[in-house]
Amino acid sequence: MPAITASAPGKIILFGEHAVVYGQPAIAVPVRQVQAKAIVLARPGQAGIQIHAPEIALDSPLQNLPIEDAIGQAIHLTLQALKVTNPPGFSIKISSTIPLAAGMGSGAAVSVAIIRAVAAFLGRSLPDETVNQIAFEVEKLHHGTPSGIDNTVITYQKPVFFIKGQPIQTFTPRYPLTFVIGDTGISSPTSVTVGDVRRAYQENPERYQMLFNACGVIAHNAYGSIQEGRNVTLGPAMNDNHLILSEMGVSCPELDNLVETARSAGAYGAKLSGGGRGGNMIALVDPSQAEKIASALKAAGAVRTIITQI
Ligand code: PMV
Repeated sequence: MPAITASAPGKIILFGEHAVVYGQPAIAVPVRQVQAKAIVLARPGQAGIQIHAPEIALDSPLQNLPIEDAIGQAIHLTLQALKVTNPPGFSIKISSTIPLAAGMGSGAAVSVAIIRAVAAFLGRSLPDETVNQIAFEVEKLHHGTPSGIDNTVITYQKPVFFIKGQPIQTFTPRYPLTFVIGDTGISSPTSVTVGDVRRAYQENPERYQMLFNACGVIAHNAYGSIQEGRNVTLGPAMNDNHLILSEMGVSCPELDNLVETARSAGAYGAKLSGGGRGGNMIALVDPSQAEKIASALKAAGAVRTIITQI
């Protein structure tokens, strides 16, 4: 039996991270230049499921993984959704070019790749809605109270205007948008920043509610601009969103430095993207300026840059 492969892209959040956890709208888009991949191979004559994830030094039978292991849960929940209680033996190899703990959705992408590869290996396909639900359950293991935006944009592989608990809205921008993504190289688990924002919100609910509302207004207006092709208004909106995220306490000097560098090098606007305090920032740029701005980011300390068009 041939190997079955499934891949899932990374993602960036254009507007509304953190506030989205509190019911505000947010916008996210897939980034296809980075991918998570799962390859499933039959193990003829051998029972059990063997997991290889060399990048995180994991090589283990499924039954030896702790219950809170995200990869193990993705497989268990997929088998459960397919009502398969006694699967034939197989091995699954997981790899990813999406940086870990960097705001690019690596956890959700790994889950989606696993779910689709395991289902396809068993000769079945799961509807996107179910894939998304399973990936959301696994996201809870990664960071407790996820909004669901990461698993949604990665499952559907389309730009999404996302409000927690509401029907999914995918969209296509009227005119293409070009972004340069700059990685600080600082690993920053989303669970930590989401937890810190929650504590700060509990200590100062009025102030934080005001900051969340302001992000919501920015995301809402930006969605209108993207649909109507008013792309240039998005730059200042990104700058405003970055300022609010800084006030929330989720920026850091390295992110601020890359954001400032991108703006000085000619970006329309720039902001951190994802959980913050490290990970990636994004800059909206004219396509003709993208290489120049990427070089400026590298010179300012970005460990890698990606140019992507939506
Ligand atoms: O996984 P990250 O770092 O892209 O963060 C996801 C965005 C947050 O709004 C910070 C958390 C969430 O669940 O929406």
